[in-house]
Amino acid sequence: MSTDTDQQRTILVTSALPYANGSLHIGHMVEYIQTDIWVRFQRMQGHDCYYVCADDTHGTAIMLRAEAEGITPEQLIERIRGERLADFAGFNVEFDNYHSTHSDENRELATGMYLALKDAGKITTRTIEQFFDPEKGIFLADRFIKGECPKCHTKDQYGDACESCGTTYSPTELINPFSAISGATPVMKESEHYFFKLSECEDFLNQWMAGDLNQHGHESLPIESRNKLQEWFEAGLMDWDISRDAPYFGFEIPDAPGKYFYVWLDAPVGYMSSFKNLCDRTEGLNFDDFWAPDSKAELYHFIGKDILNFHALFWPATLHYAGYRTPDQICVHGFLTVNSEKMSKSRGTFITASSYLEHLNPEYLRYYFAAKLNDKIEDIDLNLEDYVARVNSNVVGKFVNIASRTAGFIAKRFDGKLAASMDDTGLALNNKIQAASDEIATLYNDRKFSEAVRAIMDLADEVNEYIAALEPWKMVKDEATLADAHLVCTSSLNAFRLLTVYLKPILPVMAEKIEGLFNIEPLQWSDSQILLTDQPMNKFKHLAQRIEMTQVDAMVDANKDSLVNKGETHSQVRHAEKQQHEHPAIAETISIDDFAKIDLRVAKIINAEHVEGADKLLQLTLDIGKEQRNVFAGIKSAYAPEDLIGKHTVMVANLAPRKMRFGVSEGMVLAAGPGGKDLFILEPHEGAKPGMKIK
Ligand code: MSP
Ligand code: ZN
Repeated sequence: MSTDTDQQRTILVTSALPYANGSLHIGHMVEYIQTDIWVRFQRMQGHDCYYVCADDTHGTAIMLRAEAEGITPEQLIERIRGERLADFAGFNVEFDNYHSTHSDENRELATGMYLALKDAGKITTRTIEQFFDPEKGIFLADRFIKGECPKCHTKDQYGDACESCGTTYSPTELINPFSAISGATPVMKESEHYFFKLSECEDFLNQWMAGDLNQHGHESLPIESRNKLQEWFEAGLMDWDISRDAPYFGFEIPDAPGKYFYVWLDAPVGYMSSFKNLCDRTEGLNFDDFWAPDSKAELYHFIGKDILNFHALFWPATLHYAGYRTPDQICVHGFLTVNSEKMSKSRGTFITASSYLEHLNPEYLRYYFAAKLNDKIEDIDLNLEDYVARVNSNVVGKFVNIASRTAGFIAKRFDGKLAASMDDTGLALNNKIQAASDEIATLYNDRKFSEAVRAIMDLADEVNEYIAALEPWKMVKDEATLADAHLVCTSSLNAFRLLTVYLKPILPVMAEKIEGLFNIEPLQWSDSQILLTDQPMNKFKHLAQRIEMTQVDAMVDANKDSLVNKGETHSQVRHAEKQQHEHPAIAETISIDDFAKIDLRVAKIINAEHVEGADKLLQLTLDIGKEQRNVFAGIKSAYAPEDLIGKHTVMVANLAPRKMRFGVSEGMVLAAGPGGKDLFILEPHEGAKPGMKIK
C-alpha cells in the first residue's frame, strides 16, 4: 500500500459479513478489530473513510438452524442481528452501516449483477448430478453428507474430506453415505444449474491481481495470496456453480422458478448493498462515485484466509463483467489460536465475544491483537498469560503510568494548569515523539500494527526513563524545585498526549477519557504536531485497571459452562476429545501384497517368567507348531506370568530377531491399548492351533 498522507483520500472499507447462524467469537473479532483500527486511523488522518458490513443471511445452514429452533429464518436473522450489534458496540467496532444480505437493496443489486453477467455472455447452464435426500426432499451440499472414508475407512466423515486421514474426495466416493440432516441414504438426482464462466476469466484476473486496474499504484493482493492464485490458475479455473435448488433460503433467480442464487453470489454484493443503504440516507454520498468503473474512491476488503478464493477470484471477476469497478486490495489475515491451539470448547478457549465483554476490557483485546497483527497471512496466537502480562506492562505500566505519575500534581499543586513552557530535556523528548509521526502513520497505513505498537512503546519507555530520572514527586516537596516540577509534569503530559494520538486507533475509549483530562477536542493525527502550554486540565481520574489472571480464568470457565447449557456435559465433551487422542489416525493405505509380507501365527504360550533386572518385560516361550520361539514382551505392567501360561495368542513370526540386553527376541506378540494396566494381548477364538497362519 502506498502512503500518500498529504492528499485527501476517499476510501470504502469492508470486513467479511459474518454468517447469521451463530454467535461471534474472539476469532471473528481479529478481523473486525483489525479493520476498525485501520479505519479509525484513516479518519484521524482526515480522509473520507467509510466502513460497512452486514449479516450474511442466506443458505442452507441458516434455513436448517431456524427450522430446528422452530422459527422462521427471518426471526433467526433478527435475533442474531441484535446480538451482533451489541458485540460490535462492546468492542467499539464502528461501522458507518451494518446491513443485511436479506434486504431489498441486496436483492436488487444481486439480481442486477446476475442479469448483467448474463447479458455479457458469462452465464451458462448445465445439468449436474448430485446427492439428494429423498426423505427431506433436498439436495445435499458436501458438508451435509456423511459416510465412511474411502481411503482409511473411518466412519462418520463429511462429504468433502476425512478428518482422520486428511484425504479430500467427492461425496460420491464415500462408502455407505447418509444424509447428515435426516440420516436417509441419499440418491443421485439430476438438476439444471447456473454457472458463471470463471474459466474465461484468467487473463482478466491476472491483470487485476497485478494491480493494473487500480489507480492507486499498489498490488491487489499480498504476495502469499498471489502465489495461491497462481496455484489455482495452474490447476485450471473451473466455471462456478451459482445456483441452488429449492428449498433454499435466498433470492430466486429471475425466470428460473425453484432456482436460487448460491449464498456466495449475493454475499459479497452485501458490501455494495450496505453501502447503497447508507447512501440512500446520507446527503451527498453517491453510490456510483464508489462503484462505477471509473471510480476514484479506494476500495478495500478485509477478510480471513479461508475465504480468499471467493474474494480474489469470483468477486473481482463478477464485478468486472457486470460493469463495476474492482477492489483495490484484498487484505488477508490469518486465523486466531488460543494458547497455541485451535480454539476449543472443552478447554473453554472457544471464547464468545459477549463472554469476553462480560469479563474483560475490550480495549485490552484490541491492544493485544494490534500488538500481534501485521500485513502477513500468518495465524496469530492469543496466549492468555502473555495477554495479561503484556497489557499490564505496556498499557498500564508504560503508557497510563506516565499520567499516573504526573497528572495528579497539576490539580493539587499547579492550579489545574500546565506550565507556560517546558524544560529543555522534556522539550527535546517531545520533539522526538513528534518526529515519529510519519513513520508510525506509514506503519498503520501498511497494516503493520505490531511494528507501530512497538515504536510507540519504545517512546513510552523513554518518557518513563525521563520521569524516573527527575522524580517530580520529590521536586514538588521542595519550594526551591516546585516550579521545575511544573515543567517536568508539563513535558511528561505533553508526551502522554502525543502517545495518545498514536494509540487512539487502537484505544479509542481510553483516548476519549484522556481528551477529557486535557479539555481538548477529539484528537486528530495532525495534533501530534502541536504542544500544549498553559492548558487548563481536568482532575486526573483513574484511567486503567490491571488485569488479574483470575478474571481470565473466570472467562475460560464461563465458556466451558456455556457448553453445558447447550445440553452437552463437560465430561461428555472431554470424553469425546480424549477418545480422539486415544485413537490415533489410521495409517496410510497399504496393498494386500504389503500385508502378505507379515507372517502372523497363532502361538501357544508354553512358558512365561520375569526377567531379572527388567521392569517392563516378560520372557515368553512360544510354540508355533514346528518350532519354539523366545520372545521378550513389554507387558509386565498388565500381566502376571502365571496368568499367561497355556494361553494362545498371535505373534509376528517373520520379524527380524533383535538382540536385547537379556537375550535375543525372536518375534513379537500382538497387544492393544495405551499401556500400563491397559494392555490387552490378542487371543484367537477356541480351536485355533499353534502355527496356524493368520490371513
Ligand atoms: N459469511 C462468510 C463471509 C462472507 S463475505 C462476503 C464468512 N462468515 S464467517 O462468519 O464464517 O467469518 C467471518 C470472518 O471471520 C471471515 O473473514 C473469517 O475468516 C473470519 N474468522 C472466522 N474465524 C476466525 C478465526 N478463528 N480467526 C480469525 N478470523 C476468523 O466466512
Ligand atoms: Zn480417511
